This record gives sequence, C-alpha cells and structure tokens, in this order.
Amino acid sequence: MSSSLLVAACAVSFVLLCSAATSPASAAVYGVGGGLLSIPSNDSLAHCPSRCGDVGIDYPFGIAPGCFREGFELICRNTAKTPKLFLGDGTTEITDLGYRYVLAQIYFNITVRPGTDTYNISWVAPTEGITIDHYNTFYVIGCNFDATLFEYGTEDLIGSCMSRCDGEKAPIGGPCNGMGCCFIELPRVLRGFQSTIILRSDGIPVAQTDPVHPGIMAFMSSDYYISNTSDLFLGWTNTSNVEGTVLSFATIDQPSCERARMNNTSYACSPGSNCRNVSSGGYHCYCSGYEQGNPYLLDGCTDYNPKYKEHCSTSCGDMKIPFPFGVEEGCFANERFRLNCTEGNLTVCELGEAQYHVTAVSLDDGTLTVGNMMNDTNYEKEAIIVQTTDTGRDYSFSGPVEDRFDLSMEYAIVIRWAVTNLTCEVAVQKNTTYACRSSHSYCLNVTHRKEFMGYRCKCSPGFEGNPYIEDGCTDINECLLPNYCNGTCQNLLGNYTCTSCPHRKEFDPIKKKCVTSAKQRNLLLGKTVRSNSQHAK
Ligand SMILES: *[C@@H]1O[C@H](CO)[C@@H](O)[C@H](O)[C@H]1NC(C)=O
Ligand SMILES: *[C@@H]1O[C@H](CO)[C@@H](O)[C@H](O)[C@H]1NC(C)=O
Ligand SMILES: *[C@@H]1O[C@H](CO)[C@@H](O)[C@H](O)[C@H]1NC(C)=O
Ligand SMILES: *[C@@H]1O[C@H](CO)[C@@H](O)[C@H](O)[C@H]1NC(C)=O
Ligand SMILES: *[C@@H]1O[C@H](CO)[C@@H](O)[C@H](O)[C@H]1NC(C)=O
Ligand SMILES: *[C@@H]1O[C@H](CO)[C@@H](O)[C@H](O)[C@H]1NC(C)=O
Ligand SMILES: *[C@@H]1O[C@H](CO)[C@@H](O)[C@H](O)[C@H]1NC(C)=O
Ligand SMILES: *[C@@H]1O[C@H](CO)[C@@H](O)[C@H](O)[C@H]1NC(C)=O
Ligand SMILES: *[C@@H]1O[C@H](CO)[C@@H](O)[C@H](O)[C@H]1NC(C)=O
Ligand SMILES: *[C@@H]1O[C@H](CO)[C@@H](O)[C@H](O)[C@H]1NC(C)=O
Ligand SMILES: *[C@@H]1O[C@H](CO)[C@@H](O)[C@H](O)[C@H]1NC(C)=O
Ligand SMILES: *[C@@H]1O[C@H](CO)[C@@H](O)[C@H](O)[C@H]1NC(C)=O
Repeated sequence: MSSSLLVAACAVSFVLLCSAATSPASAAVYGVGGGLLSIPSNDSLAHCPSRCGDVGIDYPFGIAPGCFREGFELICRNTAKTPKLFLGDGTTEITDLGYRYVLAQIYFNITVRPGTDTYNISWVAPTEGITIDHYNTFYVIGCNFDATLFEYGTEDLIGSCMSRCDGEKAPIGGPCNGMGCCFIELPRVLRGFQSTIILRSDGIPVAQTDPVHPGIMAFMSSDYYISNTSDLFLGWTNTSNVEGTVLSFATIDQPSCERARMNNTSYACSPGSNCRNVSSGGYHCYCSGYEQGNPYLLDGCTDYNPKYKEHCSTSCGDMKIPFPFGVEEGCFANERFRLNCTEGNLTVCELGEAQYHVTAVSLDDGTLTVGNMMNDTNYEKEAIIVQTTDTGRDYSFSGPVEDRFDLSMEYAIVIRWAVTNLTCEVAVQKNTTYACRSSHSYCLNVTHRKEFMGYRCKCSPGFEGNPYIEDGCTDINECLLPNYCNGTCQNLLGNYTCTSCPHRKEFDPIKKKCVTSAKQRNLLLGKTVRSNSQHAK
C-alpha cells in the first residue's frame, strides 16, 4: 500500500515540478530526486506547507514538490489524529526539526517468543546524507540478555552490554546499570546500526513474564546522562517520555565545500553564509557570528532588520534614541540595539541581570556610553559590577559582555557596537539586510582591539544625520559654520565653494560675509559715511 502511495505522490510531484520549471520567474534547478538544487528565496517557498502536525518544517526540509532541497524530502502522513512527519523511509517518525538536524524516534519493541533466544534489529538511514550523531546512546531495556551493537555496512563491533534481573522483574527507578537496563555509547557518527540481542536463561525461564515489561525494548536516545530509569521504562507504553535520536543531515550532492563551491548552480549555501565539511561526507551551511536565520535561503542569514518604523519612540527622558536603537518591539534593528526605557531612564537590555544606564548614544562614533558601573578586581579579565538603582544590590557580570561589545574603561564606560559580524563587502551584497540605507552614506569595518567585530555606517563627508535610515544623511550647510570659508561661500550638495573676498574687501566672521575692509575705510574716509548709512537702511 505504501509503495503505491509513493508512486502516486511521485507522479503528482512531476507534474508540479514541470509547471514550476516553466514559470519564467523562477529559474529553479532540480536534482534527480525532484529536490531543488538552486537556492530559493523565502518568497518562492510561500506555497510550501510549514507544518506537519506539531512539527514545524523549514527549508531545506520539505514535504511538497518544489519545497525541499535534494536529499531533504520528508513525508507527512495524515493517518493519525494529528498528522505525523517521517523520514523518507516512511517509518522513522520525526518529532523536531532544525536546519541540519532532526530529532527522530528509533525504537524497537521486541516481543519475546518462546523457543527463540536471538533477536536481530537494525536501522539504516534512508539516504546517504543522514547520520546518527555520535552523542546518541543505545539503550536496551529488559531482563537477562546480552546485547551487541555493530556498525551498519562495515559490521564493525561498536560495543556490547548486558542486563540481568534478580528474578524476572526489572527494577525501576535506579540508574541504567545492567539491572534491567544497559546501554552502549556511540564512539562516532553512524550511517546505521545492527544489534543482536541474545536471551540468557541462566536458570531463569526465558519467557519474560513481567506484565509491565513483557519483552525487550531498544532505542537510540540523545539523552546522555540518564541516572533514573523510570522514564526509560515508561517508554514501553509512551515513547514521548524519552528523548529521541539526533540525526544529522548533510548536503551530499558534492563531497565537500570546496567541490560544492565549484558549481554555483548547485551550491547549497546562500551568498553570505558559510560552509563546513561533514566528516561522514558532504557539507553543512551555517550563518556566521551572531547571525540567525536560514543559510539555505537567499538572504536567509539575517541579524539586522533595516526597516525603520515611524511610530517608534525617539526619546527617553532627555536621551534621544536613534535607529537602529529602539525601545518597542519591532523598533530596534536587532536584539543588540534594544534599549529599555523605564521612568525616563534608558538602559541596555540583554546584558544579564546588570543594568547599564545609557548616558550617550553616538551613531557617528558607533558607541554607547553607559554609567552605574564599577571595576571588579576579583576577575582577571576586565569585568564589571553594576549597582542597580532599584534594589541597591550588586550584580557582577563578565565574559559574554566582552564577546558582544567592546567595553573601554577609559573615562566613562564606552560600549563600541557593530551592526553585524560581516565585512562591508559582504554586507553590501545582502541587499535586504544592509544597514547603510541613506544614499549619502558609506560603510566601515569595526574592530575590537585586533579582532574583527563587524561593520557600521557613516554619513558621507559633507553630510550629517542618520545613515541607518533612508534619506537620513542630509547636506551640511558649511557656509553657516565658522572657519569653513573666509570669503564668499556657496553651499553645494555634500560640499561648498569658497572664493576669497574680492579686492578691497575682507571677511567679517560675525556677519559671515565679505565687507569693505577697515583699511579701505580709513583710506576713503569720505565714502565711509555713505557706506555706513547704506548699511543702516
Ligand atoms: C518567509 O515567508 C513566510 C511565509 O511564507 C513568512 O511568514 C515569513 O515571515 C518569511 N520570513 C522572512 C524572514 O521573511
Ligand atoms: C543475526 O545477526 C547475526 C550477525 O549478523 C547473524 O549471524 C544471525 O544469523 C542473525 N540472526 C537472525 C535470526 O537473523
Ligand atoms: C511495545 O509492545 C508492548 C506489548 O505489545 C506494548 O504494550 C507497547 O505499547 C509497545 N510500545 C511501543 C512504544 O510500541
Ligand atoms: C552544476 O550543477 C548542475 C545541477 O546539478 C548541473 O546541471 C551542471 O552540469 C553542473 N555544472 C558543472 C560545471 O558541473
Ligand atoms: C565573526 O565572524 C568571523 C568569521 O566570519 C569569525 O572569525 C569571528 O570570530 C566572528 N567574530 C565574532 C565576534 O563572533
Ligand atoms: C525594562 O526594565 C524594567 C525595569 O528594570 C524591567 O521590568 C523590564 O522587564 C525591562 N524590559 C525589557 C524589555 O527588558
Ligand atoms: C530614573 O528612575 C528613577 C527611579 O528609579 C527616578 O527617580 C528618576 O527620576 C529617573 N530618571 C529620569 C531622568 O527620569
Ligand atoms: C577601573 O580600572 C581602570 C584601569 O584598571 C582605572 O583606570 C579606573 O580608574 C577604574 N575605575 C574605577 C571606578 O575604579
Ligand atoms: C538592491 O536593491 C536595489 C533597490 O531595491 C536594486 O536596485 C538593486 O538591484 C539591488 N541589488 C541587488 C544586488 O540585488
Ligand atoms: C573590511 O575588512 C575586509 C576584511 O578585513 C577588507 O577586505 C575590506 O577591504 C575592508 N573594507 C573596508 C571598507 O574597510
Ligand atoms: C569638495 O570640493 C573640494 C574642492 O573642489 C574637493 O577637494 C573636495 O574633495 C570636495 N569634497 C567632497 C566631500 O566632495
Ligand atoms: C578663517 O579665519 C580664521 C580666523 O582668522 C582662521 O582661524 C581659519 O583657519 C580661517 N579658515 C580658513 C578656511 O581659511
């Protein structure tokens, strides 16, 4: 039945694939399994189902044609009350999903049959790019058996363990220590495994008669430190009590990042994201630094929302709050620029329990100046104690602040910030998240000591204002400023012209224009009177 369903699903998918391929807007490239090979945009996947039952599905995974990358197709079955998500094999249930891992249920419920004492179980990933992570543990629960685990394919011995029970009843509640439960840790990533479980009568009747645990159960779990087996035993009837298996997914259309990058058509990692080789073959994409998002989508790695909203508060007490900083949800460009305005006091959020009172925000210097801090000599690294105003209690905070900001203790405490951990060259290519929005602005790299922090923006020479918002940088009228021009001044967009005062005139810094020089006045006394009376008019 399931195979005929699959055939039907494939037939449908080919029709849809063809119509998608003929659409002029998307020059999508497909692989042999009907999966995408080119990088889609978020918008081009708008028609794709984003859930199956309780599990959210993000690209590169997908359940509908045109919605998954080659090798990442999953199956959603509507049979149960709530639909359930499965790997391509149609039998391994998925309970959670990330960009490069899935949490799956690999369970074996072995019913002990009289006269049979050897039981073989096995699991193998349905496609090559899927592997069992090495931090899973193989658990076997039941009484009086020896279990041996082999690597699938190579048949290499991975380990063995045994369980004996005092009588026929497995003890419940203790650690998994060979009394009703044993486990084998995985030494490495596996494509699949096979296990042989042999019942040992040792004088006890082989058939397991414990009504609660009538057979043997085996499963892979990412729960590494199980000290109490109660949950494991409950797995007999309710598998949701036990953490599932963590499976890794790799892109395997090419064996490595280096090879994958050679073909722009099929390279999975979107521009601006990074690539990492997977030891078992293939590669992963990931967003760098503080970035979050989906490296498999065009402009998927985002750590900055450049859309400035009009309704946002622009001040708190006496303090101005320029974008990318903001107070209300949706008003700051990312979490780093979130500030808290409470009773007219502006504080920095997200720095642990500490309260940092903002005393100045400078877009031009890329700094926040904060107060309410003292040095803490208990820490070797530059660390900070903050005295909060409301409780008077001291909080100390170290480490992570340094990673996120450059804290200089020179005068007041100055937090140096950057937009995202990208160089200007990479940032400007990511059109939708590039922070320097004003047309009269430019980008500069920010470094913290010698470490690269990211980029920020500045208004071009001759302009001032906010480079982070559209039309934010406005022309400076140099002619109104002192010491720019000691002559006849004309303001231009981003510049000015200055011609020295004509012969016999001199610059008057108060009137900011050329006037007849005092020397000339002395020489031409008679005319001075007329000139003055003209001025008086
Ligand atoms: C991607 O598209 C979905 C709708 O298809 C939308 O809900 C979501 O906000 C979009 N994500 C981004 C980052 O634009
Ligand atoms: C179980 O696996 C072992 C080792 O691969 C093999 O020798 C044995 O024949 C298998 N037994 C059954 C019942 O399949
Ligand atoms: C395992 O089998 C036993 C006995 O048939 C049954 O009661 C139990 O619900 C099964 N557990 C799972 C997780 O399938
Ligand atoms: C790049 O990948 C695409 C899609 O698989 C394929 O059609 C094309 O031949 C490849 N190009 C090269 C140069 O290998
Ligand atoms: C920024 O990213 C680069 C690589 O892209 C990395 O080497 C560096 O450690 C990152 N910096 C921070 C502060 O995360
Ligand atoms: C802002 O500060 C107040 C008072 O310290 C606190 O109760 C509130 O949770 C803070 N809000 C945010 C978003 O951090
Ligand atoms: C800051 O908050 C305190 C109370 O916590 C209040 O007394 C003070 O007036 C506030 N500062 C400003 C500038 O409003
Ligand atoms: C903090 O330490 C720096 C350098 O160690 C020192 O110059 C500064 O005076 C100290 N500040 C306080 C408030 O103790
Ligand atoms: C960036 O956006 C602008 C305006 O929206 C557009 O003209 C330009 O072609 C885009 N550049 C890239 C590289 O997408
Ligand atoms: C930013 O840093 C990168 C890498 O160090 C460098 O290649 C680039 O020229 C710098 N760009 C600017 C505008 O300084
Ligand atoms: C302004 O004009 C002067 C003289 O023409 C020129 O040297 C300078 O580079 C210009 N500055 C800008 C910012 O364009
Ligand atoms: C204009 O005159 C003042 C005062 O004599 C002088 O300090 C300044 O440098 C002059 N500026 C220019 C652009 O020559």
